[in-house]
Amino acid sequence: MAKKLFIKTYGCQMNVYDSARMAEILAPLGYVPGDNPEDADMVILNTCHIREKASDKVYSELGRLRKSKDRRAEEGSPMVIAVAGCVAQAEGEEMLRRAPYVDIVLGPQTYHRLPEMVARAHRAGSGAGKDGEAPNQRGVLDTEFPVDSKFDHLPERRQVNGVSAFLSIQEGCDKFCTFCVVPYTRGAEFSRPVAQVLEEARQLVDGGVRELTLLGQNVNAYHGEDEAGDEVGLGALVARIAALEGVARIRYTTSHPRDVDDALIAAHGNIDALMPFLHLPVQSGSDRILEAMNRGHDVAQYLDTVARLRAARPDLALSCDFIVGFPGESDADFEATLELVRTVGFTMAYSFKYSARPGTPAAGLPRQVPEEVKDERLARLQALLEEQQQAFNAETVGRTLDILFERPGRHPGQLVGRSPYNQAVHVATTEYRVGDIAKVAIDSCKPHSLEGRIVGSGAAHLREDSEERLRA
Ligand code: SAH
Ligand code: SF4
Ligand code: F3S
Repeated sequence: MAKKLFIKTYGCQMNVYDSARMAEILAPLGYVPGDNPEDADMVILNTCHIREKASDKVYSELGRLRKSKDRRAEEGSPMVIAVAGCVAQAEGEEMLRRAPYVDIVLGPQTYHRLPEMVARAHRAGSGAGKDGEAPNQRGVLDTEFPVDSKFDHLPERRQVNGVSAFLSIQEGCDKFCTFCVVPYTRGAEFSRPVAQVLEEARQLVDGGVRELTLLGQNVNAYHGEDEAGDEVGLGALVARIAALEGVARIRYTTSHPRDVDDALIAAHGNIDALMPFLHLPVQSGSDRILEAMNRGHDVAQYLDTVARLRAARPDLALSCDFIVGFPGESDADFEATLELVRTVGFTMAYSFKYSARPGTPAAGLPRQVPEEVKDERLARLQALLEEQQQAFNAETVGRTLDILFERPGRHPGQLVGRSPYNQAVHVATTEYRVGDIAKVAIDSCKPHSLEGRIVGSGAAHLREDSEERLRA
C-alpha cells in the first residue's frame, strides 16, 4: 500500500530543489507525496537557518507534529518525523536532544542516504534501545559532509511538475560573509560536472520543462569540469544548456557580485534563452559596512558590474537582497544604501533586518543596532523598493512581451505566465496552454502582477503539438 509523505519546505530555492529530490528518492520505497501532515506516514521538515525567525518556526511546527505522531501511535500507525536542511545541519545532535520524538536528523548533503536512514529509524522504533542505545538517542543522525557528492547517487528526474524547474548546479559557499550561516550549513563550494548538469537538464526537458533555473548559493562561482577535464564557467554552461533541444528559457540564482565575469556578461548579450533578469544581491550601499560584512567588493565595483551588464543587455532587470541594521550601521551608512537603490533601480528586491546567527563572526560584534532602528530603516527601504517595482511594472504597460504560461489562473479561461523580466502576467485565453509561449500585449498592471491579451504566438517557442493545434 502506498505510504503518505508530507514535506514542508522552508528557505531558499535550493531547499525547494532538495525537497523535490527527497520525494524522488523515497518514491521507490512506496512513499507518495501528499498535502496533509496529520495522516502522513512520514513527515520531512526541510529547514532554513538563515535568520532567527526562520529557525524558530521549526520547533513550533515540531511541537504540532508531535501531537499527530502521538495520536497515530495510539492508533497503531507510526509516523516518521525527519528534519532536513540547514537547521538540522547546524543543530545536529542538539535537535535530537531537544526534540527526542524526531526520528531522523539529516543535513543538506546526505539526503541521498534517506532510504537507509528510514530503515534504521524503523528498526530503532520497533526494538527500543536494542543496540544498547539509550531511548532518547534512538534518533538517526547524518549531518556529514560526505566526500562523495549526493548528486552521484540521485535518481533520474522522472516525476517532473510544471514547465519551470530548478536545477542545482553548485552547492555550498566559500565566501564567509560575516553575517551568514550558509558556509557552515551547506559546506564548501562544489560544482557539479558539466555532463551531469546537461543530463539532468535533458531529463527535465523530456518531462515537459521549458524553463530551467540554475541554482547555487553562489551560482556564478560555478566552475564544473567538462568532458575534456577543462573547467567551465557559468557563461559557457548556459550556452551549452541553451543549445539543448526544447530549452526555451534559462535563469540562474543566486549570484555574487564578485563572480560576475566577462563570459557571463557576454552570455547576457548573446544568448537569447538567457532571460534578461538577474538577482544580484549587494546587501548594503556603504563601503564601510560591505567591508565589515566581508563581501569582497565595494559600491563602485558593484555599480561598474551593473553598468557592464547593462551595456551587454540594456533591458536587464535587476533584483537584489539587502540587510539593514548590520552591527555598526549608522544613519549615514543606511542613507548610502538608499542612494545605491536610487542609482541602480531594482525591479524587485528582498530586504531583511540583520539577525545575529550563532557561530557567525558578526554575531559577536559590538554596536548591535536596536530593533526599533532596524524596523524604521527596513520600512523606509521597503517603501523605496516597492515604489521602484511598481514603477517598473507601470512602464511595462503598452509593451508586447513573450509570456511563458506556467499555470491556470483563478478564473476559468485564464492562464498565468511570466514575462522575461520575471513578472507574473494574467491572460484570458482558451487557445493556449500551460507550457506555451505567446506574444502578449500588456494592458494594465496591479502592484505585483500584469494583465495582457494575446497578440500572436511566440512561434519558435511553441510546443510542437500546440503549433499543430493553432494551425488547425
Ligand atoms: N549567496 C547569496 C545569499 C544567500 S542568503 C548572496 O551572497 O547574496 C539570502 C539572503 O539572506 C542574503 O542575500 C541576505 O540578504 C539574507 N541574510 C543572510 N544572512 C542574514 C542574516 N544573518 N540576517 C539577515 N539577513 C540575512
Ligand atoms: Fe552567505 Fe555570503 Fe556565501 Fe552568500 S556569499 S551564501 S551571503 S556567505
Ligand atoms: Fe536557508 Fe539554508 Fe537556503 S539557511 S536560505 S535553506 S541555504
